[in-house]
Amino acid sequence: MPTSSPVRPRARPAPGPDRTGGVEPRRHVARRCTVPAAGRRGTLPVREDAAVSADDAIPTEPAPRGPDLTDAERVARARAFADRMRTRRTVRDLARDPVPLDAVREAVRAAASAPSGANVQPWRFVVVTDPAVRRRIREAAEAEEREFYGRRAGEEWLGALAPLGTGADKPFLETAPVLVVVLEVHASDTEPKPYYAKESVGIAVGLLLAALHEAGLATLTHTPSPMRFLTEVLGRPRNERPFVLVPVGLPAPGARVPAITRKPLDEVLVEV
Ligand SMILES: Cc1cc2nc3c(=O)[nH]c(=O)nc-3n(C[C@H](O)[C@H](O)[C@H](O)COP(=O)(O)O)c2cc1C
Repeated sequence: MPTSSPVRPRARPAPGPDRTGGVEPRRHVARRCTVPAAGRRGTLPVREDAAVSADDAIPTEPAPRGPDLTDAERVARARAFADRMRTRRTVRDLARDPVPLDAVREAVRAAASAPSGANVQPWRFVVVTDPAVRRRIREAAEAEEREFYGRRAGEEWLGALAPLGTGADKPFLETAPVLVVVLEVHASDTEPKPYYAKESVGIAVGLLLAALHEAGLATLTHTPSPMRFLTEVLGRPRNERPFVLVPVGLPAPGARVPAITRKPLDEVLVEV
């Protein structure tokens, strides 16, 4: 169980010569910035020595340029990424085998690069490996889920879940070697008010799942309902609201997933 709050990622590593055109690496520090529209101040990460625009208000740096590719190479890369993402599946039967925690940390780093409303970065990622904490999470989640499946879900919701074969038992919360609990961070004495918190955290979770998949790890996007108990079990402050719980591991031997389909592209893609 974490005993202290993680430090917000205010400063970034200094860029190397490849990003700055050979200039000396720059020092990055946090600077107080006014958060617009809410009438309160928050600390946003900006670089102290970044170039400053004419009105001396907005520090800037060169926009990063992607690799110089031909059109065909761009299409091929996008297609290859889509093909890899198509092989991601929610795996509910996870092995107990350990996974490299550094891969999980790197995936969190990818998630934390997500865009966010006003760059407030309203997320926290708690990586749980302690078996006793995982057991407590399982017990609390199953209590909520029994209530959900037994009473709260309703016929329509249960009908939608039926093809997935899900139920109130959540053994994966203990068998998965790692649980990543993603929390949405709201305003407090130390945290600024977030803007578009759900959209921001949702994008971050998308990157998290993609990065873990790229690392060859299986994930399960889990939302025990309600999941307020996670804040307490993890000893997090009240302004951190559980968003999703992601067990991470390897598929158990013989694990199977529901044979579901994706909507065809021409159904989800509209070009105007
Ligand atoms: C926001 C969200 C919440 C979800 N909650 C659960 C959950 O609580 N339990 C579960 O077994 N699967 C959950 N899922 C997984 C979905 O059922 C799954 O993504 C969907 O059936 C598609 O399958 P796939 O991920 O294997 O492609 C959730 C997915 C999302 C995006």
